[in-house]
Amino acid sequence: MAARIIDGKAVAAAVRERVKVDVAAYVEEAGRVPGLATVLVGEDPASQVYVGMKRRNTEDVGMRSIHHEPEASIREEELLELVRELNEDDDVDGILVQLPLPAQISENAIVAAIDPRKDVDGLTPINAGLLAHGDPGLVPCTPSGVMELLAHEGVGLEGAEAVVVGRSKLVGVPVARLLLQANATVTVCHSRTRDLDATCRRADVLVAAVGVPRLLGKEAVKEGAIVIDVGVNRLEEGLVGDVDYEAAAEVAAAITPVPGGVGPMTIAMLLDNTLQAARMRTTSG
Ligand code: GUN
Repeated sequence: MAARIIDGKAVAAAVRERVKVDVAAYVEEAGRVPGLATVLVGEDPASQVYVGMKRRNTEDVGMRSIHHEPEASIREEELLELVRELNEDDDVDGILVQLPLPAQISENAIVAAIDPRKDVDGLTPINAGLLAHGDPGLVPCTPSGVMELLAHEGVGLEGAEAVVVGRSKLVGVPVARLLLQANATVTVCHSRTRDLDATCRRADVLVAAVGVPRLLGKEAVKEGAIVIDVGVNRLEEGLVGDVDYEAAAEVAAAITPVPGGVGPMTIAMLLDNTLQAARMRTTSG
């Protein structure tokens, strides 16, 4: 039986609609428009596309997009100064520094300099720590997008076996924490995992976030599993995920396509985080 296709585009559109309504209510109540600052260093073509979409979507839901595009040769100290300026700017509710950054710049140093209240990527040590403790904070967008898709599909996570492939700060680790908070039994696999397929085959919910094209095939998917593919790998033939879609779809109950699965959710959740950051700043004075 062929798997159900999880339509991330449709779910993301619904989230954006909800955010748009909530933004209008916020503007009415607070008398100001939330602003998202994006920082794109250099001219990486993929990052240009992503940031362009983020900016367009920000404006589409009625928020302000503030954009900075320093040259790839910028020094770390200069970029830190820009982040500090955005931290101080009252018109800026969210700050997104698109990753990856050029080699001369420490990503950790830049991310750590972002005011946690404006950290709409949820990547600062403060927000990562809040998530680790299960306390409220700003949660990374792709992981919350994954959870939104699972909720939309009505996937019961209580006691479920969830396997996450990948342990990045941006996706693997935070999605594992969210699944754990939802009372799943969570296993995190990575490049040293001994028998990847056998571990993945335990999963009721399989989340792939490693960036290796079609790493997981039919042998990695349990009959009836829900497969969430976060991978976005650019091959000559086009974009492919970390999961071999055709093969996995033969056994899975439901699966996200690439593109059109998790990708659109990331931006939708970014908009949601920006509004949340604006609300937190306004109510905490
Ligand atoms: N690069 C790839 N994905 C992301 C993301 O979600 N946020 C940031 N800042 N950079 C990224």
